Amino acid sequence: MSAPKSRWANEDPEEEAAIALRKREKEEKKRAKAERQKLVEQQQQQQQKQSAAAEQADSAEKATERPTKRRRISNEPIPSAETEGEKVEVQRKLLRFPAPEWAPCRHVDNYEPLNHIEEGSYGLVSRAKDLVTGEVVALKKLKLDNSPDGFPVTGLREIQTLQRARHNNIVRLREIVMGTSMNDVYLVMDFLEHDLKTLLDDMKEPFLPSEIKTLLQQIMSATEFLHSHWILHRDLKTSNLLMNNRGEIKIADFGMARYYGDPPPKLTQLVVTLWYRSPELLLGAEEYGPEIDIWSIGCIFGELLTTDPLFQGKNEVDQLSKIFAVTGPPTQQIWPTFRSLPNAKSLRLPPSTSSLGSPMNPPLLPRSKFPYLTNAGLSLLSSLLALNPSARPTAAQCLKHSYFREDPRPKAKEMFPTFPSKAGQERRRRRATPEAPKHGEEAPRLDFANVFGSGGGGGAGSAEAGAGFTLRLG
Ligand SMILES: Nc1ncnc2c1ncn2[C@@H]1O[C@H](COP(=O)(O)OP(=O)(O)O)[C@@H](O)[C@H]1O
Ligand SMILES: [Mg+2]
Repeated sequence: MSAPKSRWANEDPEEEAAIALRKREKEEKKRAKAERQKLVEQQQQQQQKQSAAAEQADSAEKATERPTKRRRISNEPIPSAETEGEKVEVQRKLLRFPAPEWAPCRHVDNYEPLNHIEEGSYGLVSRAKDLVTGEVVALKKLKLDNSPDGFPVTGLREIQTLQRARHNNIVRLREIVMGTSMNDVYLVMDFLEHDLKTLLDDMKEPFLPSEIKTLLQQIMSATEFLHSHWILHRDLKTSNLLMNNRGEIKIADFGMARYYGDPPPKLTQLVVTLWYRSPELLLGAEEYGPEIDIWSIGCIFGELLTTDPLFQGKNEVDQLSKIFAVTGPPTQQIWPTFRSLPNAKSLRLPPSTSSLGSPMNPPLLPRSKFPYLTNAGLSLLSSLLALNPSARPTAAQCLKHSYFREDPRPKAKEMFPTFPSKAGQERRRRRATPEAPKHGEEAPRLDFANVFGSGGGGGAGSAEAGAGFTLRLG
C-alpha cells in the first residue's frame, strides 16, 4: 500500500514536468552566479598582484625614508623573506598607486609666470599659467642651495608624501618641472586663493561658529587620511592651510612630513613651528606619533576662534610656560609618564598642583578664554590640547564628536563668503611669525628649572616673564 498522497500533491505529469524545468532553471542560475563570483574574485586577486608589483617597483625610492626601527611604515607588502608568499594582514586602507613611469620632467617654460606669492622657509611660491590649458597653478621652487648632500631631504619628502596623499582636502601636486639648471626644481600644484593665516590676519571678525565647524571638519578629514596612511605632517599651522573661494580647505607644505610606524620610530624632536609644537616635543620626546599633529590642530582651532595664534612663545621655555598657563601644569595624575621625557628632569612643578582630571579625561580649558564656544566645542578643544598625548583623540574620533552634530551645524561650503585674494594679485611681505625648524638643526639644550620658578610677578610682555611664570632661559 502506498502512502496516502498529500492533498497538495499534483498528479498532472505536465505540471510535474514544468516543476522539474523550473528546478533545473534555478540550479542553472545558481551555477552561473557562482561562476560570476569566482571570476570577480580572480580579477580582484589579479589587481592586488598588479598593485603590489607596482608598489614594489616604487620601493627603491622609499628605502631612503624607512625608519630603522620600525615594524611597518605602511601597509605596502614588504618584499622580505618573512612576508613573501604570505598574506599580509591588512589593518588600514591601502593606497593604490599607478605604476611609476620613468619620464623626463617637463620644463618650467610650459608655465607663464604671473606673480610671486610668498617666499617661505624652503621655497619661493608663485602663481603661473599653464600655457597649454590656460589653468592657473602655483609653482613652488625648492631651495637646493644649502643642501650639502645634493637633493634636500625636505624636498624629497614633500614630493614623496604629496604624490601619495590624494585627498579633497590636501593640495594636489600636478607635476614636477625643471628649470634650466639642475638646481631648479619646481612643484606644480593647484592654485588656491588664500592661506588661512593671511586670511585671519585681515579679518575683522572671526569666522562664524558654523564656518569654523566646516573648516575644522575638512582639516580633520585630511589629517585622518594622512594618519591612516602612516604620514605625519609635522608642520600643521594656519599658513600651511590653503583655502579657495568655495569654502574648501587644503593642507599644504609637506616639507616636514614623513612616514612613521607602529611602534613609532625614533624621530627628530625639532619639528613643528614653535607656536604649534606639542608639550611632549618641547619636553624632548624622541618617540612621538600622530598626536603631535592633533595638538597643532588644537592650536589652529583656538586660532580660528579668536583669529590670533593661541600660544605665541618667544622660545621653547616661554612656549611651554604659555601652554601651562592655559592648560594648567602637568601632574602625575593626568600625565603619569611626563617625568621620563628628557627635558622634564629639570622641570620644577609649583607646590600645589591641581588634582583635576585623569589620563583619559583631561581637565577642561578655562571657559573664560573661549566665551563663545559651546560646551561640546570646549570639550573637543580641551581634548585636542590635552598635555598627555595619549589623552588626545584621533582625527577619526574627532570627526564623530558631538560638536559637529549640534547646532549651529557646519555651514555648506557653497554658502561660504568669498574674500579678495592677495595671492592672486600681489607679492606678500615676508611674515614676522616663526617658521618650522630647519632640517638637520640640533635641538637646543633646554633648562626648564624655573618654568614655575619664583612665581607670580610676571607682567605681560616682559621677555622673561610670560603668563605668570618666571623663566630662566637655558
Ligand atoms: N598651491 C598654492 N596656492 C596658493 N598659494 C600657495 C600654494 N602653496 C603655497 N602657497 C603660499 O605660499 C606660502 C608658502 O608655501 P609653503 O608650501 O608653505 O612653503 P614653505 O615650505 O616655504 O613654508 C603658503 O603659506 C601660501 O601662502
Ligand atoms: Mg609653509
